[in-house]
Amino acid sequence: MLKTHSCGELNREQAGQRVTLAGWVNRRRDHGGLIFIDLRDREGLTQVVFNPDVSKEVHEIAEEMRNEYVVRVSGEVVRRPPGTENPKLKTGDIEVVALQAEILSPSKTPPFYINEDVDVDESLRLNYRYLDLRRPRMRDNIILRYRVIRFLRGFLDSRGFIEIETPILIKSTPEGARDYLVPSRLYSGRFYALPQSPQQLKQLLMVAGFERYYQVARCFRDEDQRADRQPEFTQLDMEMSFVEEEDILSLVEEMFISLVEAVKPQMRVIKPFPRLTYAETMARFGTDKPDLRFGMELRDLSDVVAGTDFTPFHSAILEGGRVKGICAPGCASYSRRQLDELADFVKARGANGLVSIALGGDTGGGLEELTLEMVRSAARKSLTIEQVREIAGRFGAGIGDLILIIAGEERMVDNALSQLREEMGRRLSLADPNLLAFAFILEYPLFEWNEDSGRWDPMHHPFTAPRDEDIPLLDTAPQMVKARHYDFVCNGCELSSGSIRIHNRQLQEKVFRLLGYGEEEVKERFGHLLEAFDYGAPPHGGIAPGIDRVVMLLAGEENIREVIPFPKTQSAMDIMTNAPSPVGEDQLRELHISIRDD
Ligand code: AMO
Repeated sequence: MLKTHSCGELNREQAGQRVTLAGWVNRRRDHGGLIFIDLRDREGLTQVVFNPDVSKEVHEIAEEMRNEYVVRVSGEVVRRPPGTENPKLKTGDIEVVALQAEILSPSKTPPFYINEDVDVDESLRLNYRYLDLRRPRMRDNIILRYRVIRFLRGFLDSRGFIEIETPILIKSTPEGARDYLVPSRLYSGRFYALPQSPQQLKQLLMVAGFERYYQVARCFRDEDQRADRQPEFTQLDMEMSFVEEEDILSLVEEMFISLVEAVKPQMRVIKPFPRLTYAETMARFGTDKPDLRFGMELRDLSDVVAGTDFTPFHSAILEGGRVKGICAPGCASYSRRQLDELADFVKARGANGLVSIALGGDTGGGLEELTLEMVRSAARKSLTIEQVREIAGRFGAGIGDLILIIAGEERMVDNALSQLREEMGRRLSLADPNLLAFAFILEYPLFEWNEDSGRWDPMHHPFTAPRDEDIPLLDTAPQMVKARHYDFVCNGCELSSGSIRIHNRQLQEKVFRLLGYGEEEVKERFGHLLEAFDYGAPPHGGIAPGIDRVVMLLAGEENIREVIPFPKTQSAMDIMTNAPSPVGEDQLRELHISIRDD
């Protein structure tokens, strides 16, 4: 090794020892005579002192050193003079007095500061990702990612799971996104699809008898990018045989509680993980991935305002829609501008507008003191004081609070209000950043109606089993069928979906038919799975937590790009290598592909 110690491990105990360190110049301070260098490697920083009285020659080498130079230094560990210790640094009690030094590799001036956590344009960061990854925050995120995956592997290993790799060049497996396709050179006009998940393969591994499988699996989905989506991402893909929902949920709960204890003991977890039905979470939060760190729940006000002549309420109800709201505590004094901003926020999410009811300034006090004159709202003229009190009462609101209401088609109302709730939670700092509010969502419908294509879509994927008692409803009322599907969420983020699967050929064929797949298509796309079910398929189920999202939450980041070493941009580009990029005519010809200009 070119070094004897890392830059993060020396302390008073090594005082007097001769050591050799190597790393990057994090900062260089020239105090006229003495030169100080903070030497950085993966493990930390160590201060190195170059004293011309100790060695003029070595001091001259230090004069050449600049930030981000790679250098190697040998010297003696000494205790820092009293009063100059740095308690913020692990190595802050000592410094190394340089006796020898060499520059291993110089560096240009980096395009952004590496030794300071300043905001840098993301495309610059991604272009120079290797420099970005040197920054302590990114280094810590990537190390955290490694620790999370290592923990999860160890945990599952201790529970009898074995890791099995599945292919990347495969056939399309539907998870609701477009496939990334790979053209075949040997078979003109044919394509492999990159897996959206190893779903069918893990089910086949259950048919093969492996009983407990997991994989740190790379998945590929061509879909609109968001802060928590990447074209390629990593799942902790799991599947178990001879299990019911409870077996999987309790295993996941134990795994995540011990994960947090192991890698982020300073973060709190709500135990046991709450379990909500789909209907309950939609009613209370307007979303199936609620942030349970704070309340501000939605309330349905349709019955209270049913008789009013206030057009937004009146016409929503007339058209079969709903009127729902949330209450922002202490926000009655919001200005016109602030309210307009919130209205724009919900309009951008599909709402026609936002009706606010401000409960009389910020004097505080109970509803009995409230008069109509104290209420500020576009709907005031259409409401009686009793109605306002009833509305406020639904939220447990008092004077000083602000009620925010959206009227219209129920899905739109739920969606816009749930996002407004999160926005207000952020503005009012209602969510404890050190709390991880994990929860399971249960009792999903098996299907959802797709207006655009005029047919049923699977709520999860087509392999999810219906509840046994609902199987007869498949023929009569598919909309009523509940799935053996569960989602695992945390702090407003969907960490995972999973389900007990269909393991019976006839039932699987029936579900495919209901989803509108033709017989030929089923045979072509899923024939292998159906055939496998003819050879003794055990009851099985699984789940697949998204590792990027888990690490994002544990790292306190708001974007999964911050926990992926080499992510794509928001528009699915790798700007460091410039992928996707054009390829040569020869390569295209080999692949039997010609590019159209349209
Ligand atoms: P699902 O499609 O819900 O289920 O995916 C599981 C989890 O994977 C993560 N995830 C993503 N993360 C980053 N970028 C993306 N584009 C992306 N898409 C999904 C999420 C999500 O909850 N085969 C099933 C699982 C099963 O039934 O066992 C599946 O893939 O955290």
